[in-house]
Amino acid sequence: LLPERATRVRNLIVDVPDFPSPGILFKDITPLLADAQGLADVIEAFTRLALADGRGGTGGIDVVAGMEARGFLLGTPVAHALGLGFLPLRKAGKLPPPTERVSYDLEYGSAAIELRSGTLTPGARVLIIDDVLATGGTAAAAAQLVEQCGGVVAGLAFLLELETLHGRDRLARYNVDTLLRVG
Ligand code: PRP
Repeated sequence: LLPERATRVRNLIVDVPDFPSPGILFKDITPLLADAQGLADVIEAFTRLALADGRGGTGGIDVVAGMEARGFLLGTPVAHALGLGFLPLRKAGKLPPPTERVSYDLEYGSAAIELRSGTLTPGARVLIIDDVLATGGTAAAAAQLVEQCGGVVAGLAFLLELETLHGRDRLARYNVDTLLRVG
């Protein structure tokens, strides 16, 4: 993102304290999604990253994947802009069988994400997109799910990285890009 556009996009992401539970600072991208210029800037920035040298360009990415729910909103337009398809990584129980599943730990309890079996071509190079990199638990599970389905994680890209939570450390094996960072 160019600096002046980054500032504008940053201002369209709203901090909501104590949501969804006490102590959590929720990053609400609703105003950004509702803003035509902000949405266009973010999709363009993701698309440029995917095309950049060192990532192999679209020749190096076969498909885009995104995590439910906000990864769908950002990942699908990026896939379309790249002329590629999109794989929804869904929260457990939403997809009809057969599915592949990865379970992961949350601060309290656990969660699981699933991909419909047979939708990922074995050997396909996958770019994973989501809105926020926080603890990295969701992203690590997404990368594991792609690999479990026979895909290759070409990279992960996020709109916003919450650096104090060190999610990037859990993704050390992968190419990780973030459009905005907050400490
Ligand atoms: C948020 C966000 C990421 C994840 C990041 O999703 O969109 O997917 O949390 O957190 P982590 O790095 O600590 O795993 P959320 O679980 O709120 O789901 P939603 O998009 O369906 O609201």
